[in-house]
Amino acid sequence: MEGTVVNLEEGAGPGASLDFNDVDGSCDRRGAMAALDVFNAHLASRPLTAAELTLFLASMASFNRHTIGGIAILAGRLSDEILPLLPTKGHEIGAYVLDAAIDEYGLRESVTHVELARSFAAYLGISAPEVEARSNACASAVALGDALHTWYRQEPVAFALGVHAASEATSVKEFMAWHDVFLKFPQYRFSRDTPQFEYLRAHFVHEPDHIHHTKTCVSRYLDVLPGHGALLREGAERYLDLYQEMFYELDTLIFK
Ligand SMILES: [Fe+2]
Ligand SMILES: [Fe+2]
Repeated sequence: MEGTVVNLEEGAGPGASLDFNDVDGSCDRRGAMAALDVFNAHLASRPLTAAELTLFLASMASFNRHTIGGIAILAGRLSDEILPLLPTKGHEIGAYVLDAAIDEYGLRESVTHVELARSFAAYLGISAPEVEARSNACASAVALGDALHTWYRQEPVAFALGVHAASEATSVKEFMAWHDVFLKFPQYRFSRDTPQFEYLRAHFVHEPDHIHHTKTCVSRYLDVLPGHGALLREGAERYLDLYQEMFYELDTLIFK
């Protein structure tokens, strides 16, 4: 994807410039995307058993538990930080994050993404209580989910925006792969038109827009607050560290 190069002010940190693709790039550099790629390759090699599906879906639920509220809160915090500096245009920057929250809250074209995920799981024979149980999730998914709760709400806005940007960068790659994997094996009984497949179909359609909006958001945010680049990158890296652990753990528990 093409990157928006954002020049940071002199002394703003090592490198003196930040390309949004550094957030994508840091996926590779820190191994998070490699861990996801390994997991996805194994996921495409055979259908999961019911116990493995429970572990996978419960882990994704624990990981994402606080993201929906978190990104809505980030959109508001972002607007509050920018508005004093850009009174007439500040809302536009928070709106890029709000746009992703609108999908999550089911305000555009589907029910909430939590409902989509639970109905997807139910079709696979995994009940909502089984998906909700933290005890069914891997430990690092629980840890990442808990960290996200704090990061979106209590860390500085730039840090939280870095977390969000990295999360969009990884989620587009998750859903592109999972969309194909769950259509591939007849044991899953999905077709593109299966109503319960909407969980993957909606993300397959909308995640590319999210990453595009996030790139624009980060670029415009750093135009206003160029000194916040290092904090933004720190947020992205903290997220990617735990994300890598989570997919390494899931891959080990399911495929090793
Ligand atoms: Fe979602
Ligand atoms: Fe997204």
